[in-house]
Amino acid sequence: MFDLEASAWRGLREAIMEFEGRPVGVMAASDRELPRLNYDQCFVRDFAVCAPAFLLRGDTEVVRNFLIAVLRLQSTEHALEPLQPRKGLMPASFRPAERSRERFLKGDYGEESIARVTPADSVFWWLITLRAYTKVTGDTGLAERDEFQEGIRLILGLVLEGSFEMFPTLLVPDGAFMIDRRMGVYGHPLEIQALFFSGLRAALELLSGGDGLRQSVERRLRNLRHHIGRFYWVDRAVLSELRQVGPDQYGEEAVNIFNIFPESIPDWVDDWLPGDAGYFAGNLGPGRIDFRFFAQGNFLAVAAGLCGKERSGRLMHLVDRRWTDLAGAAPLRIVYPALEGEVWCTTTGADPKNAPWRYHNGGWWPCLLWSFASATVAAGRPDLLERALADAEPRFGRDGWPEYYDGQLDPQPGERARRKQSWSMGAYLYAKACLRDSSTAELYTWPDEIEPEDAFPDVR
Ligand code: GLC
Repeated sequence: MFDLEASAWRGLREAIMEFEGRPVGVMAASDRELPRLNYDQCFVRDFAVCAPAFLLRGDTEVVRNFLIAVLRLQSTEHALEPLQPRKGLMPASFRPAERSRERFLKGDYGEESIARVTPADSVFWWLITLRAYTKVTGDTGLAERDEFQEGIRLILGLVLEGSFEMFPTLLVPDGAFMIDRRMGVYGHPLEIQALFFSGLRAALELLSGGDGLRQSVERRLRNLRHHIGRFYWVDRAVLSELRQVGPDQYGEEAVNIFNIFPESIPDWVDDWLPGDAGYFAGNLGPGRIDFRFFAQGNFLAVAAGLCGKERSGRLMHLVDRRWTDLAGAAPLRIVYPALEGEVWCTTTGADPKNAPWRYHNGGWWPCLLWSFASATVAAGRPDLLERALADAEPRFGRDGWPEYYDGQLDPQPGERARRKQSWSMGAYLYAKACLRDSSTAELYTWPDEIEPEDAFPDVR
Protein backbone atom coordinates (compact mmCIF):
# COMPACT_ATOMS: atom_id res chain seq x y z
CA MET A 1 0.00 0.00 0.00
CA PHE A 2 1.21 3.53 -0.81
CA ASP A 3 2.64 5.08 2.35
CA LEU A 4 1.99 8.82 2.25
CA GLU A 5 4.10 9.66 5.28
CA ALA A 6 7.04 7.74 3.84
CA SER A 7 6.61 9.64 0.57
CA ALA A 8 6.62 13.00 2.41
CA TRP A 9 9.66 12.05 4.42
CA ARG A 10 11.51 10.86 1.30
CA GLY A 11 10.66 14.12 -0.44
CA LEU A 12 11.95 16.20 2.45
CA ARG A 13 15.23 14.30 2.57
CA GLU A 14 15.71 14.79 -1.18
CA ALA A 15 15.28 18.54 -0.66
CA ILE A 16 18.07 18.86 1.91
CA MET A 17 20.52 21.64 1.13
CA GLU A 18 24.13 21.01 2.07
CA PHE A 19 26.93 23.43 2.75
CA GLU A 20 30.50 22.29 3.36
CA GLY A 21 29.25 18.72 3.55
CA ARG A 22 26.70 19.46 6.26
CA PRO A 23 22.89 19.79 6.02
CA VAL A 24 21.81 23.41 6.60
CA GLY A 25 18.20 23.49 5.45
CA VAL A 26 15.86 22.37 2.70
CA MET A 27 15.16 23.85 -0.72
CA ALA A 28 11.66 25.33 -0.99
CA ALA A 29 10.84 22.77 -3.69
CA SER A 30 12.76 19.98 -5.38
CA ASP A 31 10.57 20.01 -8.52
CA ARG A 32 12.84 20.22 -11.56
CA GLU A 33 10.12 20.64 -14.19
CA LEU A 34 9.32 24.31 -13.68
CA PRO A 35 11.84 27.19 -13.75
CA ARG A 36 13.60 27.20 -10.41
CA LEU A 37 13.53 30.98 -9.81
CA ASN A 38 14.39 31.06 -6.11
CA TYR A 39 12.70 27.78 -5.21
CA ASP A 40 16.11 26.11 -4.92
CA GLN A 41 16.85 28.37 -1.93
CA CYS A 42 16.13 27.60 1.70
CA PHE A 43 13.38 29.97 2.90
CA VAL A 44 13.40 30.68 6.61
CA ARG A 45 9.59 30.50 6.92
CA ASP A 46 9.39 27.29 4.86
CA PHE A 47 12.12 25.59 6.86
CA ALA A 48 10.46 26.56 10.15
CA VAL A 49 7.40 24.57 9.04
CA CYS A 50 9.59 21.60 8.02
CA ALA A 51 11.71 21.66 11.19
CA PRO A 52 9.33 19.63 13.39
CA ALA A 53 9.39 16.74 10.92
CA PHE A 54 13.17 16.53 11.39
CA LEU A 55 13.06 17.16 15.14
CA LEU A 56 10.45 14.47 15.72
CA ARG A 57 12.55 11.95 13.80
CA GLY A 58 15.58 12.73 15.95
CA ASP A 59 17.25 14.24 12.89
CA THR A 60 18.16 17.39 14.80
CA GLU A 61 21.47 18.29 13.15
CA VAL A 62 19.90 20.01 10.14
CA VAL A 63 17.78 22.18 12.44
CA ARG A 64 20.78 23.11 14.56
CA ASN A 65 22.87 23.98 11.49
CA PHE A 66 20.00 26.00 10.04
CA LEU A 67 19.70 28.02 13.26
CA ILE A 68 23.43 28.75 13.24
CA ALA A 69 23.48 29.58 9.52
CA VAL A 70 20.59 32.05 9.73
CA LEU A 71 22.06 33.65 12.84
CA ARG A 72 25.33 34.24 11.01
CA LEU A 73 23.41 35.87 8.17
CA GLN A 74 21.63 38.24 10.54
CA SER A 75 22.45 41.84 9.78
CA THR A 76 24.56 43.30 12.60
CA GLU A 77 25.48 46.65 11.05
CA HIS A 78 23.70 49.86 11.82
CA ALA A 79 22.59 50.47 8.22
CA LEU A 80 21.99 54.09 7.35
CA GLU A 81 22.11 53.60 3.58
CA PRO A 82 19.17 52.44 1.46
CA LEU A 83 19.31 48.86 0.13
CA GLN A 84 20.98 47.68 3.33
CA PRO A 85 19.16 45.32 5.68
CA ARG A 86 18.33 46.96 9.03
CA LYS A 87 20.29 45.84 12.06
CA GLY A 88 18.80 42.64 13.46
CA LEU A 89 16.99 41.59 10.25
CA MET A 90 17.23 37.98 9.06
CA PRO A 91 16.95 37.00 5.39
CA ALA A 92 13.89 35.59 3.64
CA SER A 93 16.05 32.85 2.12
CA PHE A 94 19.62 31.74 1.54
CA ARG A 95 21.68 29.57 -0.83
CA PRO A 96 25.28 28.42 -1.21
CA ALA A 97 27.29 30.80 -3.45
CA GLU A 98 30.89 31.26 -4.54
CA ARG A 99 33.12 34.32 -4.87
CA SER A 100 36.84 34.19 -5.73
CA ARG A 101 36.75 30.43 -5.19
CA GLU A 102 35.40 30.96 -1.70
CA ARG A 103 32.13 29.22 -0.84
CA PHE A 104 29.67 31.01 1.41
CA LEU A 105 25.97 31.17 2.24
CA LYS A 106 24.30 34.13 0.60
CA GLY A 107 21.17 35.58 2.20
CA ASP A 108 18.40 37.40 0.32
CA TYR A 109 16.84 40.12 2.51
CA GLY A 110 14.48 41.14 -0.25
CA GLU A 111 17.06 42.81 -2.47
CA GLU A 112 16.78 40.05 -5.12
CA SER A 113 13.31 38.68 -4.42
CA ILE A 114 10.39 39.09 -6.82
CA ALA A 115 9.08 42.65 -6.31
CA ARG A 116 11.81 43.27 -3.69
CA VAL A 117 9.57 42.52 -0.72
CA THR A 118 10.82 42.80 2.89
CA PRO A 119 10.91 39.64 5.04
CA ALA A 120 9.53 41.05 8.31
CA ASP A 121 8.60 37.55 9.50
CA SER A 122 11.96 35.71 9.35
CA VAL A 123 13.17 36.81 12.80
CA PHE A 124 10.03 35.37 14.38
CA TRP A 125 10.24 32.07 12.50
CA TRP A 126 13.84 31.77 13.68
CA LEU A 127 12.89 32.36 17.33
CA ILE A 128 10.00 29.88 17.14
CA THR A 129 12.29 27.26 15.59
CA LEU A 130 14.98 27.81 18.21
CA ARG A 131 12.40 27.29 20.95
CA ALA A 132 11.14 24.04 19.34
CA TYR A 133 14.71 22.79 18.86
CA THR A 134 15.52 23.50 22.52
CA LYS A 135 12.35 21.77 23.72
CA VAL A 136 12.93 18.61 21.70
CA THR A 137 16.67 18.20 22.24
CA GLY A 138 17.02 19.66 25.74
CA ASP A 139 20.15 21.34 24.31
CA THR A 140 19.78 24.67 26.13
CA GLY A 141 23.48 25.36 25.49
CA LEU A 142 22.84 26.49 21.90
CA ALA A 143 20.46 29.30 22.82
CA GLU A 144 22.67 30.25 25.76
CA ARG A 145 25.71 30.82 23.57
CA ASP A 146 26.77 34.46 23.52
CA GLU A 147 26.20 34.77 19.77
CA PHE A 148 22.63 33.45 20.13
CA GLN A 149 21.86 35.74 23.06
CA GLU A 150 23.22 38.65 21.06
CA GLY A 151 21.11 37.61 18.05
CA ILE A 152 17.95 37.53 20.19
CA ARG A 153 18.77 40.98 21.57
CA LEU A 154 19.32 42.34 18.07
CA ILE A 155 15.91 41.02 17.04
CA LEU A 156 14.27 42.61 20.05
CA GLY A 157 16.04 45.88 19.28
CA LEU A 158 14.68 45.75 15.74
CA VAL A 159 11.08 44.99 16.64
CA LEU A 160 10.62 46.84 19.94
CA GLU A 161 12.24 50.13 18.98
CA GLY A 162 11.91 52.41 16.03
CA SER A 163 8.47 53.08 14.59
CA PHE A 164 6.56 56.22 13.73
CA GLU A 165 3.65 54.90 15.74
CA MET A 166 2.73 54.37 19.39
CA PHE A 167 0.63 51.23 18.92
CA PRO A 168 1.91 47.88 20.21
CA THR A 169 1.48 46.26 16.78
CA LEU A 170 4.16 46.15 14.06
CA LEU A 171 3.80 48.31 10.96
CA VAL A 172 5.08 46.57 7.81
CA PRO A 173 5.03 47.08 4.03
CA ASP A 174 2.98 44.94 1.60
CA GLY A 175 4.09 41.34 1.07
CA ALA A 176 6.26 41.20 4.22
CA PHE A 177 5.38 37.61 5.17
CA MET A 178 4.07 34.39 3.64
CA ILE A 179 1.85 36.44 1.32
CA ASP A 180 4.83 38.00 -0.41
CA ARG A 181 3.06 39.62 -3.34
CA ARG A 182 0.97 42.74 -3.46
CA MET A 183 -2.33 41.80 -1.81
CA GLY A 184 -3.27 44.86 0.24
CA VAL A 185 -1.63 43.35 3.31
CA TYR A 186 0.49 46.41 4.18
CA GLY A 187 0.06 48.08 7.55
CA HIS A 188 -0.70 45.85 10.51
CA PRO A 189 -1.54 42.42 9.05
CA LEU A 190 -2.76 39.85 11.54
CA GLU A 191 -0.20 37.23 10.53
CA ILE A 192 2.70 39.51 11.45
CA GLN A 193 1.09 40.46 14.77
CA ALA A 194 0.46 36.79 15.68
CA LEU A 195 4.03 35.89 14.70
CA PHE A 196 5.28 38.87 16.70
CA PHE A 197 3.36 37.61 19.74
CA SER A 198 4.70 34.05 19.34
CA GLY A 199 8.23 35.32 18.67
CA LEU A 200 8.20 37.47 21.82
CA ARG A 201 6.95 34.54 23.87
CA ALA A 202 9.74 32.37 22.49
CA ALA A 203 12.32 35.11 23.18
CA LEU A 204 11.19 35.35 26.78
CA GLU A 205 11.86 31.64 27.26
CA LEU A 206 15.22 31.78 25.51
CA LEU A 207 16.71 34.98 26.97
CA SER A 208 19.10 34.47 29.82
CA GLY A 209 19.60 37.28 32.29
CA GLY A 210 16.91 39.37 33.88
CA ASP A 211 17.53 42.93 32.79
CA GLY A 212 14.96 45.55 31.75
CA LEU A 213 14.62 43.91 28.34
CA ARG A 214 12.53 41.09 29.79
CA GLN A 215 10.16 43.61 31.32
CA SER A 216 9.80 45.43 27.99
CA VAL A 217 8.97 42.14 26.28
CA GLU A 218 6.45 41.23 28.98
CA ARG A 219 4.78 44.62 28.76
CA ARG A 220 4.62 44.47 24.97
CA LEU A 221 2.99 41.04 25.14
CA ARG A 222 0.28 42.34 27.48
CA ASN A 223 -0.31 45.43 25.31
CA LEU A 224 -0.38 43.38 22.12
CA ARG A 225 -2.84 40.94 23.61
CA HIS A 226 -5.14 43.78 24.62
CA HIS A 227 -4.87 45.56 21.28
CA ILE A 228 -5.51 42.49 19.12
CA GLY A 229 -8.33 41.29 21.36
CA ARG A 230 -9.99 44.71 21.50
CA PHE A 231 -9.65 45.89 17.91
CA TYR A 232 -9.17 42.85 15.61
CA TRP A 233 -11.87 40.54 16.98
CA VAL A 234 -15.00 40.35 14.83
CA ASP A 235 -18.31 38.84 15.82
CA ARG A 236 -21.93 39.90 15.53
CA ALA A 237 -21.80 42.04 18.66
CA VAL A 238 -18.73 43.86 17.32
CA LEU A 239 -20.42 44.45 13.96
CA SER A 240 -23.47 46.02 15.57
CA GLU A 241 -21.27 48.15 17.84
CA LEU A 242 -19.36 49.39 14.79
CA ARG A 243 -22.64 50.34 13.16
CA GLN A 244 -23.81 52.29 16.17
CA VAL A 245 -20.88 54.31 17.45
CA GLY A 246 -20.42 56.65 14.48
CA PRO A 247 -17.23 58.09 12.99
CA ASP A 248 -15.20 61.29 13.52
CA GLN A 249 -14.81 61.20 17.24
CA TYR A 250 -12.01 63.29 18.68
CA GLY A 251 -10.05 63.13 21.90
CA GLU A 252 -9.94 60.98 24.99
CA GLU A 253 -13.59 59.95 24.96
CA ALA A 254 -13.50 58.49 21.43
CA VAL A 255 -14.81 54.91 21.16
CA ASN A 256 -14.41 54.39 17.42
CA ILE A 257 -10.75 55.20 17.76
CA PHE A 258 -9.76 53.97 14.27
CA ASN A 259 -12.58 55.98 12.69
CA ILE A 260 -14.22 53.04 10.96
CA PHE A 261 -17.14 53.98 8.69
CA PRO A 262 -19.92 51.39 9.03
CA GLU A 263 -20.46 51.52 5.25
CA SER A 264 -17.02 49.93 4.85
CA ILE A 265 -18.25 46.66 6.41
CA PRO A 266 -18.57 44.37 3.36
CA ASP A 267 -21.93 42.77 2.60
CA TRP A 268 -20.64 39.21 2.73
CA VAL A 269 -19.72 39.35 6.44
CA ASP A 270 -23.25 39.49 7.86
CA ASP A 271 -24.56 36.48 5.94
CA TRP A 272 -21.40 34.49 6.36
CA LEU A 273 -20.60 34.88 10.07
CA PRO A 274 -22.66 32.52 12.27
CA GLY A 275 -24.09 34.11 15.41
CA ASP A 276 -21.98 32.07 17.82
CA ALA A 277 -18.69 32.33 15.90
CA GLY A 278 -15.95 34.93 15.60
CA TYR A 279 -12.47 35.52 14.20
CA PHE A 280 -9.70 38.07 13.99
CA ALA A 281 -9.83 40.56 11.11
CA GLY A 282 -6.92 40.47 8.68
CA ASN A 283 -5.70 44.03 9.18
CA LEU A 284 -6.45 47.26 10.98
CA GLY A 285 -5.47 50.87 10.49
CA PRO A 286 -6.88 54.39 10.31
CA GLY A 287 -10.33 54.11 8.74
CA ARG A 288 -9.70 50.52 7.84
CA ILE A 289 -10.65 47.04 8.97
CA ASP A 290 -9.80 44.31 6.48
CA PHE A 291 -12.55 41.79 7.18
CA ARG A 292 -11.01 38.98 5.14
CA PHE A 293 -10.32 35.77 7.09
CA PHE A 294 -6.58 35.07 6.91
CA ALA A 295 -5.97 31.47 7.98
CA GLN A 296 -2.36 31.58 9.15
CA GLY A 297 -2.83 34.63 11.42
CA ASN A 298 -6.00 33.23 12.98
CA PHE A 299 -4.55 29.77 13.61
CA LEU A 300 -1.31 31.22 14.97
CA ALA A 301 -3.30 33.45 17.34
CA VAL A 302 -5.05 30.38 18.77
CA ALA A 303 -1.79 28.44 19.09
CA ALA A 304 0.09 31.35 20.69
CA GLY A 305 -2.43 31.86 23.50
CA LEU A 306 -3.49 35.22 22.11
CA CYS A 307 -7.24 34.52 22.11
CA GLY A 308 -8.52 33.14 25.36
CA LYS A 309 -10.33 29.83 25.58
CA GLU A 310 -13.79 31.08 24.70
CA ARG A 311 -12.69 32.88 21.53
CA SER A 312 -10.45 29.99 20.43
CA GLY A 313 -13.54 27.79 20.61
CA ARG A 314 -15.64 30.24 18.59
CA LEU A 315 -12.93 30.63 15.98
CA MET A 316 -12.57 26.90 15.43
CA HIS A 317 -16.35 26.65 15.41
CA LEU A 318 -16.31 29.09 12.48
CA VAL A 319 -13.96 26.78 10.56
CA ASP A 320 -16.32 23.91 11.29
CA ARG A 321 -19.42 25.81 10.15
CA ARG A 322 -17.76 27.28 7.05
CA TRP A 323 -15.76 24.20 6.18
CA THR A 324 -15.99 24.44 2.39
CA ASP A 325 -14.88 28.10 2.46
CA LEU A 326 -12.01 27.77 4.92
CA ALA A 327 -10.79 24.20 5.18
CA GLY A 328 -12.13 22.41 2.14
CA ALA A 329 -10.63 19.39 0.53
CA ALA A 330 -7.13 20.63 -0.27
CA PRO A 331 -6.65 22.05 2.63
CA LEU A 332 -6.59 24.99 3.77
CA ARG A 333 -7.70 28.27 2.17
CA ILE A 334 -5.15 31.01 2.76
CA VAL A 335 -7.67 33.86 2.73
CA TYR A 336 -11.44 34.13 2.37
CA PRO A 337 -12.99 35.60 0.32
CA ALA A 338 -10.91 36.34 -2.79
CA LEU A 339 -10.51 39.84 -4.18
CA GLU A 340 -12.45 40.11 -7.45
CA GLY A 341 -13.14 42.55 -10.29
CA GLU A 342 -11.99 46.16 -9.95
CA VAL A 343 -10.83 45.59 -6.35
CA TRP A 344 -8.59 42.72 -7.48
CA CYS A 345 -7.19 44.93 -10.24
CA THR A 346 -6.31 47.88 -8.01
CA THR A 347 -5.27 45.92 -4.93
CA THR A 348 -3.03 43.30 -6.56
CA GLY A 349 -1.91 45.42 -9.52
CA ALA A 350 -3.84 43.01 -11.80
CA ASP A 351 -1.50 40.18 -10.78
CA PRO A 352 -2.51 37.11 -12.87
CA LYS A 353 -0.86 34.70 -10.41
CA ASN A 354 -3.15 36.15 -7.74
CA ALA A 355 -6.30 36.13 -9.92
CA PRO A 356 -9.49 35.46 -7.90
CA TRP A 357 -9.43 32.11 -6.04
CA ARG A 358 -5.82 31.42 -7.02
CA TYR A 359 -2.49 31.32 -5.18
CA HIS A 360 -2.47 33.92 -2.35
CA ASN A 361 -5.85 35.27 -3.39
CA GLY A 362 -8.09 32.51 -2.09
CA GLY A 363 -6.01 29.48 -3.12
CA TRP A 364 -5.40 26.46 -0.86
CA TRP A 365 -2.07 25.87 0.89
CA PRO A 366 -1.19 22.46 2.36
CA CYS A 367 1.57 24.10 4.45
CA LEU A 368 -1.18 25.70 6.56
CA LEU A 369 -1.74 22.28 8.10
CA TRP A 370 1.15 23.24 10.37
CA SER A 371 -0.59 26.13 12.14
CA PHE A 372 -3.99 24.45 11.82
CA ALA A 373 -2.70 21.35 13.62
CA SER A 374 -1.34 23.47 16.47
CA ALA A 375 -4.58 25.46 16.71
CA THR A 376 -6.87 22.42 16.72
CA VAL A 377 -4.90 20.91 19.59
CA ALA A 378 -4.80 24.21 21.53
CA ALA A 379 -8.56 24.64 21.09
CA GLY A 380 -9.38 21.00 21.83
CA ARG A 381 -10.76 20.29 18.32
CA PRO A 382 -8.68 17.35 17.03
CA ASP A 383 -11.80 16.24 15.13
CA LEU A 384 -11.24 19.12 12.70
CA LEU A 385 -7.65 18.09 12.07
CA GLU A 386 -8.71 14.52 11.48
CA ARG A 387 -11.32 15.66 8.99
CA ALA A 388 -8.92 17.95 7.13
CA LEU A 389 -6.35 15.18 6.79
CA ALA A 390 -8.89 12.60 5.70
CA ASP A 391 -10.13 14.98 2.98
CA ALA A 392 -6.64 15.90 1.82
CA GLU A 393 -4.72 12.64 1.87
CA PRO A 394 -6.04 11.20 -1.41
CA ARG A 395 -4.97 14.42 -3.14
CA PHE A 396 -1.47 14.70 -1.75
CA GLY A 397 -0.45 11.26 -2.93
CA ARG A 398 -1.98 11.75 -6.37
CA ASP A 399 -0.77 15.31 -6.90
CA GLY A 400 2.80 14.94 -5.63
CA TRP A 401 2.83 17.57 -2.83
CA PRO A 402 1.98 20.76 -4.73
CA GLU A 403 2.81 24.13 -3.27
CA TYR A 404 -0.85 25.24 -3.54
CA TYR A 405 -4.22 24.49 -5.13
CA ASP A 406 -6.40 26.90 -7.11
CA GLY A 407 -10.19 27.06 -7.35
CA GLN A 408 -13.19 28.43 -5.54
CA LEU A 409 -15.02 25.15 -4.94
CA ASP A 410 -13.11 22.28 -6.46
CA PRO A 411 -9.38 22.70 -5.68
CA GLN A 412 -6.98 21.73 -8.45
CA PRO A 413 -3.15 21.77 -8.23
CA GLY A 414 -2.14 25.39 -8.86
CA GLU A 415 -1.43 26.31 -12.44
CA ARG A 416 2.09 27.45 -11.58
CA ALA A 417 2.54 25.31 -8.46
CA ARG A 418 5.76 23.39 -7.97
CA ARG A 419 5.45 19.75 -6.92
CA LYS A 420 7.47 18.27 -4.08
CA GLN A 421 7.09 21.50 -2.15
CA SER A 422 8.97 21.03 1.10
CA TRP A 423 6.65 22.81 3.50
CA SER A 424 3.61 20.95 2.11
CA MET A 425 5.36 17.71 3.10
CA GLY A 426 6.73 19.03 6.41
CA ALA A 427 3.37 20.41 7.53
CA TYR A 428 1.65 17.12 6.72
CA LEU A 429 4.16 15.12 8.77
CA TYR A 430 3.76 17.44 11.75
CA ALA A 431 -0.05 17.36 11.49
CA LYS A 432 -0.03 13.56 11.47
CA ALA A 433 2.24 13.54 14.53
CA CYS A 434 -0.15 15.91 16.36
CA LEU A 435 -3.08 13.67 15.57
CA ARG A 436 -1.27 10.61 16.94
CA ASP A 437 -0.06 12.41 20.04
CA SER A 438 -1.49 15.82 20.90
CA SER A 439 1.44 16.64 23.21
CA THR A 440 3.52 17.09 20.02
CA ALA A 441 1.80 20.44 19.52
CA GLU A 442 3.45 21.78 22.69
CA LEU A 443 6.37 22.59 20.40
CA TYR A 444 4.34 25.38 18.78
CA THR A 445 1.68 26.29 21.34
CA TRP A 446 1.76 28.44 24.46
CA PRO A 447 -0.42 28.46 27.55
CA ASP A 448 -3.05 31.16 27.63
CA GLU A 449 -1.65 33.15 30.57
CA ILE A 450 -0.74 36.64 29.29
CA GLU A 451 -3.02 39.20 30.92
CA PRO A 452 -4.21 41.84 28.43
CA GLU A 453 -3.24 45.40 29.33
CA ASP A 454 -4.17 48.61 27.55
CA ALA A 455 -1.10 50.52 26.37
CA PHE A 456 -3.02 53.81 26.80
CA PRO A 457 -4.97 53.24 30.02
CA ASP A 458 -5.44 56.95 30.68
CA VAL A 459 -6.62 57.77 27.21
CA ARG A 460 -9.70 55.56 26.93
C1 GLC B 1 6.42 31.93 -2.42
C2 GLC B 1 5.49 32.06 -1.24
C3 GLC B 1 6.29 32.23 0.04
C4 GLC B 1 7.26 31.07 0.19
C5 GLC B 1 8.14 30.91 -1.06
C6 GLC B 1 8.97 29.66 -1.03
O1 GLC B 1 7.16 33.11 -2.60
O2 GLC B 1 4.61 33.13 -1.41
O3 GLC B 1 5.41 32.29 1.15
O4 GLC B 1 8.06 31.25 1.32
O5 GLC B 1 7.33 30.86 -2.22
O6 GLC B 1 8.16 28.51 -0.92
